[in-house]
Amino acid sequence: MKNADERKLRPFQNSDSKTVLSWAKDETVYYRWCAGIIGPWPPGMQDLHFSGNSDAYIYEEGDTPLGMFTVRWSDDSPVVMRLGYVIVDPARRNQGIGRAMIEKALELAFDHYRAEKAELAVFEDNLPAIACYTAVGFQPLEGRSESYSINKKKWNCIVMQKGREEQL
Ligand SMILES: CC(C)(COP(=O)(O)OP(=O)(O)OC[C@H]1O[C@@H](n2cnc3c(N)ncnc32)[C@H](O)[C@@H]1OP(=O)(O)O)[C@@H](O)C(=O)NCCC(=O)NCCS
Repeated sequence: MKNADERKLRPFQNSDSKTVLSWAKDETVYYRWCAGIIGPWPPGMQDLHFSGNSDAYIYEEGDTPLGMFTVRWSDDSPVVMRLGYVIVDPARRNQGIGRAMIEKALELAFDHYRAEKAELAVFEDNLPAIACYTAVGFQPLEGRSESYSINKKKWNCIVMQKGREEQL
């Protein structure tokens, strides 16, 4: 039986693009996922290219992709690693996979990249994502916010952070 022991990270490949795009099933989820940075909804079926010198990863069980995320160094600090493009296969949501994947992402950021802090921005109405990040120990950074213009509307994000030494 497949279980969490068979789950691992591997680098994203161009051939994963179609699978990942199929997870962003509707316009709201698509913009919550990518903020329109990879193009407007609906996306074409082209290969995905992530912005800002990001390294993209697939979280998989055996050879079945379950989710993806990216990491990149923050523009503001050389010791802060920024997570992005977090998504889980909609058929597998609410099963603890997002939480387990972000825990792996934190191990990667702290142990492999040697970051001191991990950070991300999440739209303020994206309650499932905020719950997921809170469950792994991210906390909102007071006084920090970001916004994106999507379809001529302002979408506000909160910024969340977790330090290397911070326990849950
Ligand atoms: C955000 C996302 C990755 C979470 O993945 P997931 O596998 O469903 O999350 P998990 O099952 O691991 O849940 C993690 C925590 O969040 C909570 N949670 C998950 N979905 C929730 C929901 N719809 N409402 C409230 N809480 C929720 C769980 O209860 C769990 O908390 P707990 O560990 O304290 O019990 C997933 O919903 C997703 O892919 N969303 C679409 C893309 C997106 O919005 N990405 C975020 C970009 S910033």
